[in-house]
Amino acid sequence: MCVACRSSDRDQERVQPVDIIRVQGGNALSGTVHVSGAKNSALKLMAATLLAPGVTTLENVPNISDVHVMGKVLKGLGCSIEVADEHTLKIDTSSADSWEAPYNLVAKMRASTAVMGPLLGRFGRAKIAMPGGCNLGARKIDMHILGLEALGVSFDTQHGYIFADAEDGMHGTVVTLEFASVGATENLIMAAVRAKGTTIIDNAAREPEIVDLADMLNKMGAKIEGAGTPVVTIEGVDELHPVTHRVIGDRIEAGTFIVAGALAAGEDGIDITGFNPHHLGMVLKKLEIMGIDIERIPDGVHVRRAERIAPVDIQTLPFPGFPTDMQAQVMVLSALADGNSVITENIFENRFMFASELVRMGAQIRIESHHAIVRGVDHFSGAQVVSPDLRGGAALVVAGLVAEGETDVSAIHHIDRGYERFCEKLVGLGARVDRVSVPDPSDED
Ligand code: EPU
Repeated sequence: MCVACRSSDRDQERVQPVDIIRVQGGNALSGTVHVSGAKNSALKLMAATLLAPGVTTLENVPNISDVHVMGKVLKGLGCSIEVADEHTLKIDTSSADSWEAPYNLVAKMRASTAVMGPLLGRFGRAKIAMPGGCNLGARKIDMHILGLEALGVSFDTQHGYIFADAEDGMHGTVVTLEFASVGATENLIMAAVRAKGTTIIDNAAREPEIVDLADMLNKMGAKIEGAGTPVVTIEGVDELHPVTHRVIGDRIEAGTFIVAGALAAGEDGIDITGFNPHHLGMVLKKLEIMGIDIERIPDGVHVRRAERIAPVDIQTLPFPGFPTDMQAQVMVLSALADGNSVITENIFENRFMFASELVRMGAQIRIESHHAIVRGVDHFSGAQVVSPDLRGGAALVVAGLVAEGETDVSAIHHIDRGYERFCEKLVGLGARVDRVSVPDPSDED
């Protein structure tokens, strides 16, 4: 190929447009927003359908890209999926005949590893690509493996894959988790429902999504007690049967809109519905300390804009502590508070990346190891910022709602992973938010 042809190819690549979210700050929000089903519940419930051969119907499934990836994982395992309506999936697992979660899907979404427990329960084996790091840090799965080993699963790793083998069956035992890991608790529950005898998970994670998973498995015929407490007891059963189950509302999506309301609601405030406020207990408590007026209403909350935001100290912890998935959004609030806040991230090693983007909008934030020292300023100014991850990206859009001028948030594929129709929902509340195509800014010389 001649040099001229090569350079014209390059020029063509250069003009490839990408989607960004453009926010015009300053519009007051009003009305009601209804949150979708919980991403972190739906993904595990989809994986769990493998345990019950036949057609399981999942309702209130969010239409987000992570759910599409889990759909591909299940299809790769031989399942078929009918999209009965936008939020209802009928997953037929009767013809599942593979036990491999391939690298291209696990690399896209670490939660693909949630099929390990169900595959062990269904087939006695699983081949899962090793997830490696992600933009939240190293994120190991050693506790999943140690726990499953205690149930009698043997592991081998080769060529970037984990081979899990339980063909001689799994047996119940006591597993004490070193840390209350959400993913490890879920994989262990999904394997233990088919083990012989009783498994006790000590120091189990207590997140509402785990309760949702146990509720569906119990409907399927499992015998799980104590989900939502630190000790979960599972008596193994010989088979599970398909059911219909409704995914709980997304507490983190709700929390994100609550922060938007606290910053930008008009005089009448906004309603956020479709979730259980008990699932956000510590977030609501901290927001109340910050002076945000939040009233519980049926199926959600009513939030009013804060006249003055008080500073707050927060540390992220496993449920019922303050969720790491709300850290970025609340940091946006604290960045406009009347004083200094300290936010400590205890769950993920790399979750302050969005803070430097917020600094580009005028925030004053100093990161010291896993602490962020936030000095409140009186306004943000719109800027071009990059979404570093899912929650950080959503937080930047929310910051844009009250920034002076225009904020362009790029790399919004992160936001699409977990927020269904984020722009449309904000527009429904009266925000000036648009998804626009622009030439890829990272292609500029
Ligand atoms: N960890 C280990 N070894 C393990 C498992 C976890 O060292 O075997 C570490 C992780 O590296 C991390 C910490 O323990 O530092 C917490 O991990 P956990 O297993 O609890 O989290 P996860 O299952 O990987 C889920 C959610 C996250 C959410 C966390 C904490 C899903 C798909 N993901 O991740 O959601 O932040 O629990 O609540 O359920 C998000 O939605 O934006 C998100 C990142």
